Amino acid sequence: MTSEQSVKPLRVGVIGLGFGGETHIKSYKQLPNVEVVALAGLEEERLRSLGATYAIPHLYRYYEDILERDDLDAISVGVPNYLHAPIAVAALERGMHVLCEKPLARSGAEAEAMVAAATKANRVLQVVFNHRMRGDVQTLKQYIDEGKLGHIYYAKASWMRRRGIPGSGTWFVSKEMAGGGPLIDLGVHVLDIALHLLGEPEVVTVSAATYNELGRQGRGVDKRAKKSGSGSAYEVEDLATAFLRLANGATLLLETSWATHSSASDDFGVTLYGTEGGAEIKVKNYNWEDTLRIFTDVADVPAEITPHLSRGEGHLAVVRNFVAAIAEGNWSAHNGHEGLRRTRVIDACYSAALHGREVTMPQR
Ligand SMILES: NC(=O)c1ccc[n+]([C@@H]2O[C@H](COP(=O)([O-])OP(=O)(O)OC[C@H]3O[C@@H](n4cnc5c(N)ncnc54)[C@H](O)[C@@H]3O)[C@@H](O)[C@H]2O)c1
Repeated sequence: MTSEQSVKPLRVGVIGLGFGGETHIKSYKQLPNVEVVALAGLEEERLRSLGATYAIPHLYRYYEDILERDDLDAISVGVPNYLHAPIAVAALERGMHVLCEKPLARSGAEAEAMVAAATKANRVLQVVFNHRMRGDVQTLKQYIDEGKLGHIYYAKASWMRRRGIPGSGTWFVSKEMAGGGPLIDLGVHVLDIALHLLGEPEVVTVSAATYNELGRQGRGVDKRAKKSGSGSAYEVEDLATAFLRLANGATLLLETSWATHSSASDDFGVTLYGTEGGAEIKVKNYNWEDTLRIFTDVADVPAEITPHLSRGEGHLAVVRNFVAAIAEGNWSAHNGHEGLRRTRVIDACYSAALHGREVTMPQR
């Protein structure tokens, strides 16, 4: 036997049959020494068909039943946001590692309970920030880390859709089930990209406003969306804008929407302004080529660089990192704290919008 063959395969269970769940399964299937042995989700027909497609032997309707298994090393959570915390905490308490879809939770308080459970159990808790693993973001991060933008003092992060409410009446539009609208759904991705590129500065204060103008009228719905749940009233914002002051003196403008009267299609990106250079990532309908431009001066002449980019691996890279973190054994470094930080900022944005005034973030 080679040493690789002698390593016990990682036994994984996946909860959720939508985009979240299936993307995790596909990623695990591409990795060596990982077995997806169980799957759970409410839609019986889809459960059977995913089970057959990916040769998953044990199928369950409810998440409680999959968590009863005592032979799973890890659980992937791809369910509506209100179930992230209860599932993750229960799995961690049973000794499983947890990979959880974004946002980590609906609120900072829920996310804190998850991180505490991971720390207590000494297990990995990792949130999925797949867009950070795009080729353009990775290339820009390397460029920034080489000091080439200098001090970045102003940044913008945005994800705007023309008609992108994820289905009428689905769990996404329920405040109770989702925790919020596009800010918690899409904003968390671009907030993550921005904070990652900026080197994880502390957020000091947050001002924000939210609107629900089109969603409440039943406008702006993506009719192709196949998300679960039905019958929820449109209770969340359809547009959010926020202004964040960072501890290093920089500021970040965040804007996000599921539905706007605009030229946007399904567009996201970041813009950074630094003392030595600037950069922008502009992604339209999830494209990945020619999405990054870097601005600098060459011999005192304004110059623009458009680097050759790879697509990046998205979810596959996240899942690979999760599996590697488990194998590495240094689990205390992977307790979900990055997901928690983003969740606290989103919380502060909703609070600032609700009260109509700036919120000061507690410094930790
Ligand atoms: N990282 C990304 O790019 C990305 C993209 C889409 C969704 N997501 C996240 O993934 C999660 C799921 O979103 P989705 O789009 O897959 O939603 P979805 O509505 O398509 O799927 C949700 C799944 O959860 C299952 N579920 C609900 N209650 C359950 C229960 N009690 N027991 C077992 N299963 C249950 C449903 O049966 C369904 O299969 C969300 O947190 C969302 O934010 C992330």
